[in-house]
Amino acid sequence: MRRTDWLFLLLLVVTVAGVAGALYFSETETERGRRLEATGPGNGATAGTALVGGAFNLVDQDGNAVTENDLTGRWTLIYFGYTFCPDVCPVTLTNMATAIEALGTAGNRVVPMFMTVDPKRDTVESLKEYSVHFHPRTRFLTGSEEEIDRAMKAFRVYRAIRAEEGNENYLVDHTSILYLMGPDGKFVTSFSHATSAAEMTDRLRRLL
Ligand code: NI
Repeated sequence: MRRTDWLFLLLLVVTVAGVAGALYFSETETERGRRLEATGPGNGATAGTALVGGAFNLVDQDGNAVTENDLTGRWTLIYFGYTFCPDVCPVTLTNMATAIEALGTAGNRVVPMFMTVDPKRDTVESLKEYSVHFHPRTRFLTGSEEEIDRAMKAFRVYRAIRAEEGNENYLVDHTSILYLMGPDGKFVTSFSHATSAAEMTDRLRRLL
């Protein structure tokens, strides 16, 4: 083998290892979620951008209709989760709020959004109660099972309800991802739930 061949081989091995590592460590709440995550875009992914986003018809915590048209003309940070989530969802919503506040006036151009993956329990009323804990401009969305299904498909979000007979406190495995959509309503980049508020602020400041 010539020296250039060896270099090429080395580069190939490093690249494959990097991709494998990125897939393995792409964060979700559970092992199952991690497997689901591997099929969607990970933290900072920009590939396949045209595949993220699409039509949806939901309602926010104040009963206002929200569709994909509400994503245009402003930046949107959209996160998918459920209010019964014990840790990851509230932490991510808090990080999102902290980052938007840290951006100062630029932060005013970002609409924080949360879409439930558990519409059965996350009604308009329960989202209204939940919303008081987070950024006051956050729009919390829910809808019928069919509409949530359609929205999850559009955003390549997956969930698995771990329901047990007679237990209302079930957990939901879900893709734990935060998408940044541009003023044209199109996907720009993504953050994982493990992205710190400081890193999120930093990356957003460079993008807005
Ligand atoms: Ni969660």
